[in-house]
Amino acid sequence: MNEFPPGFLWGAATAAHQVEGNNTNSDLWLLEHIQPTLFQEPSLDACDHYHRFHDDIRMLAGLGLNTYRFSVEWARVEPERNHFSTAALDHYRRVLAACHENGVTPMLSFYHFSSPRWFAAMGGWEKKPAADLFVRFCERAARHLGDLTTFATTFNEPNIPMLLRWISNIDIPFTTVLRMKKQAAKAVGTGNFGCFFLGDADKLQEVMIGAHHRARAAMKSGPGDYPVGVSIALQDEQAVGPKSRRDRKCDEVYGEWLRAAALSDFVGVQSYTRCRVGKSGDMGPEPGVELTQMGYEFWPEALEVCVRYAHARCGEVPIYITENGVSTEDDSRRVEYIRRALTGLLRCLADGIDVRGYIHWSLLDNFEWIMGYRPKFGLISVDRVTQEREVKPSAHYLGAIARGNRIPDLAAIR
Ligand code: BGC
Repeated sequence: MNEFPPGFLWGAATAAHQVEGNNTNSDLWLLEHIQPTLFQEPSLDACDHYHRFHDDIRMLAGLGLNTYRFSVEWARVEPERNHFSTAALDHYRRVLAACHENGVTPMLSFYHFSSPRWFAAMGGWEKKPAADLFVRFCERAARHLGDLTTFATTFNEPNIPMLLRWISNIDIPFTTVLRMKKQAAKAVGTGNFGCFFLGDADKLQEVMIGAHHRARAAMKSGPGDYPVGVSIALQDEQAVGPKSRRDRKCDEVYGEWLRAAALSDFVGVQSYTRCRVGKSGDMGPEPGVELTQMGYEFWPEALEVCVRYAHARCGEVPIYITENGVSTEDDSRRVEYIRRALTGLLRCLADGIDVRGYIHWSLLDNFEWIMGYRPKFGLISVDRVTQEREVKPSAHYLGAIARGNRIPDLAAIR
């Protein structure tokens, strides 16, 4: 079988802080600019997508893609606690409208790692009012944007803090983390700084799962009528040795969130690589395997495993691949990655798993969090000085797949 179902969504994704530029009211902007910092460089203008979204969406549509996943930035919409910016909400209305004008289905994420600075200053997700504050933001944003929204997710990868807890193969400079947090708390003047990446994973999970269900209900109250799901970070977790803690890790990192997703309208699967788990946790890739710029193993087969895993836990809830991609300077490896990942997806579909779309990460080469601009995930490159965009061959490849709704013979599209 080499046909995707009719109406399958084909898209690319971005996230506000990574592409818009000058997200100055966010917690991350502050962390990027203090000393010491874990960030290799600050985000600054990023891809100036805040001003260039129209052209970017037109390019996406021109490739043959029909879906754009992006996020609405809370730090812009509520720059001060209780002050909602109509101008910022209008901006996102224009982005949604640009999607519709170009025949592109928008998928809107309400949280993609960054928070308003005032939210961090009051302690972020670990503090009691966090869920109320987030739900209220979602209510306001959904009221303004709901009639133009086609799909929404509450959170992007809310299980990342749990995943980070299992990393035992990378030296995390904990003293820098602590000093960075302390400096940030000093800068905001409250003695507190709660950031999504730096919080206590158990507390965050409890608060965010509650917030997810409530935010979903808020979005459901209209205007508009669209499915609301949540995007989960998944890896192909492989047990190494008889005492592997793999199963324990899976329960801890995916269990609760997949249960929450099962009660939602869809689950967003996000997958990049595999992970070998031994008796002390993550082991890192085997020596000699191909690595991406992120240091992950080049392993497109992870997507199939993650889809099957999510399906086994979420039952009949439809699956959308809301992120999948690879960081590489060698675009021919991206083509190969896409081809193999989608071949795995076809096997899932042949087995009757209800997968309804594939959204690639990312539309643009962008700001890759603490790693800065070095890793290249984009289908389209961005000149950091001129902001000029250049479509890569992998973008044409994915576009050809989208247009035909099948994986073409590689030779035929060269
Ligand atoms: C995140 C993106 C990120 C990508 C590549 C996902 O974890 O949602 O924001 O850029 O992976 O690392």
